[in-house]
Amino acid sequence: MYEKNSPYEVELKAGQTVYLCRCGKTQSAPYCDGSHSSLGGVVEPLAHTADKDGKVYVCGCGKSDNIPWCDGSHSR
Ligand code: FES
Repeated sequence: MYEKNSPYEVELKAGQTVYLCRCGKTQSAPYCDGSHSSLGGVVEPLAHTADKDGKVYVCGCGKSDNIPWCDGSHSR
């Protein structure tokens, strides 16, 4: 999931909940596909519920200090 040099743009509706990968092993980026269980459950996905309609940006490079969110580190 962290082979990109840009974030994943995820369009959400208010109240929608998504489970975002934080282990980097998912095959369904940026969403959790259960792959973290093979790591002993050390890194759990983030359950995020949108408070409004709009886009969120999920790190695709793995350099963010705020995984799963893009913090701009991909451009530094
Ligand atoms: S895509 Fe990783 S910090 Fe932006």
